[in-house]
Amino acid sequence: MYGLVNRAIKGLVQSRFGDAAWNTICQRADLDPGGFVAMEVYDDAVTYRLVEAASETLELPAETILEAFGEYWTVYTIEEGYGDLVSLMGSTLNEFLDNLDAMHERIGDAMPDLVPPSFDREALEDGSSILHYYSKRDGLAPMVIGLIKGLAKRFDTSIEIELLDGSAPGHQKFRLREGASES
Ligand code: HEM
Repeated sequence: MYGLVNRAIKGLVQSRFGDAAWNTICQRADLDPGGFVAMEVYDDAVTYRLVEAASETLELPAETILEAFGEYWTVYTIEEGYGDLVSLMGSTLNEFLDNLDAMHERIGDAMPDLVPPSFDREALEDGSSILHYYSKRDGLAPMVIGLIKGLAKRFDTSIEIELLDGSAPGHQKFRLREGASES
């Protein structure tokens, strides 16, 4: 994955747990604590090693770290200069979710080696949705949960999100129920 992702993991760890925790995690993962170049591609194994080492060091399940990371990503990417793109992609949560593939496609213009996920939202009659998540990578469903929670905050709404059974490798499904605005 692009270094932007690993940099965000660093930002999350340093802001919540401090520099010492980050240094320990890098030592455990056998990585240079100096950091990553945002626009350089790193092996996915680097990202998985970071998450595993963070899980061991912070004594938190990897799923908890991935979920926190997903939520952090929705703020981090805006700070890193992607705010205009995010604003263009929708003014409601559902509109934004419907545009996720278009957004990653635009990001791919600047990051030609991007291997993005793909999403497809199915609107149900009761007002809830099934969000289909397609990925070439394993184990990132908790990150999607965090991403959706972060997006709900951004659009000032509340959301219930549930990973559904029966997911096939590379294709997972979530049920989303959007609630009343919290503001
Ligand atoms: C402007 C904001 C965003 C940027 C710049 C961005 C960029 C990226 C990048 C660089 C990767 C790593 C893939 C690679 O390097 O090959 C990635 C992966 C991913 N992105 Fe985005 N993204 C953004 C917003 C979002 C949002 C809002 C979602 C919400 C669902 C999302 C879902 C994902 C997921 C789940 C992955 C993991 C890869 C996988 O499942 O295979 N991204 N994105």
